[in-house]
Amino acid sequence: MSRLKVFPDAASLYAAAAEEVLARALDSIRQHDRFTFMLAGGSTPQGLYSLLAHDFHERFPWAKTHFFWGDERHVRPDHPESNYKMAWDAMLSRVAVPQENIHRIETEGGDPQQIAHKYSALLRDFFGVLEGEFPRLDLVLLGLGTDGHTASLFPATSALHETRQLMVANWVQKLNSVRFTMTVPLLNQAAYIVFMVQGQEKAPVLQAVLEGEIHSEGLPAQLIRPVHGHLLWLADEQAASLCQFR
Ligand code: 6PG
Repeated sequence: MSRLKVFPDAASLYAAAAEEVLARALDSIRQHDRFTFMLAGGSTPQGLYSLLAHDFHERFPWAKTHFFWGDERHVRPDHPESNYKMAWDAMLSRVAVPQENIHRIETEGGDPQQIAHKYSALLRDFFGVLEGEFPRLDLVLLGLGTDGHTASLFPATSALHETRQLMVANWVQKLNSVRFTMTVPLLNQAAYIVFMVQGQEKAPVLQAVLEGEIHSEGLPAQLIRPVHGHLLWLADEQAASLCQFR
């Protein structure tokens, strides 16, 4: 089941996303005493991360939350483009989260394939699943690129067709670089998937992904369809301005 909720501006979008993350956290902890949260990169989630660290600081169950990354750039963790660094600066460095709850993608050293295999192994170990099985994350947070990509699942790239691995090194020709990305079957096992989409420049792609024809090779975000979970789209008025059904 997929729903779109539209908010008047970015601030109310972040506030709603923060409430949603908190609700998912408390619910997961009630059910199995921990919360597994996959973070997104890009600029949109930054406002959410800052809000969680600031206004939600006291209410959020940091000690029982485990943080994972859905995608990463092939840069060191202190590089300005690192998704880990963004989440660290905006949120994780400001709250009392145990170091062992932060499961970043270790991008330094090794070739890209090894880095992806290592993170797949980390996920299997943490969730106690065998090779070929897919763990169930409690919450996956995603963004949407103007070209229809999500996580680092870019149009017409090999990662879109991955059926067995949890994380792959995905060559993205237009960026002339490798991106590490969780795969579609792993993302689709999540209990909740929340997309955050903000700004006028996202209006055409949001409309195409939600209301256009299915064209998943060109619009990878259309591949995100939880198998037994919930899918929620949170957008601001500008991003949703071309959507008919809301
Ligand atoms: C990344 C992402 C990516 C992002 C979208 C939207 O590392 O870049 O995880 O999928 O969410 O590109 O990014 P913005 O929020 O910056 O528009």
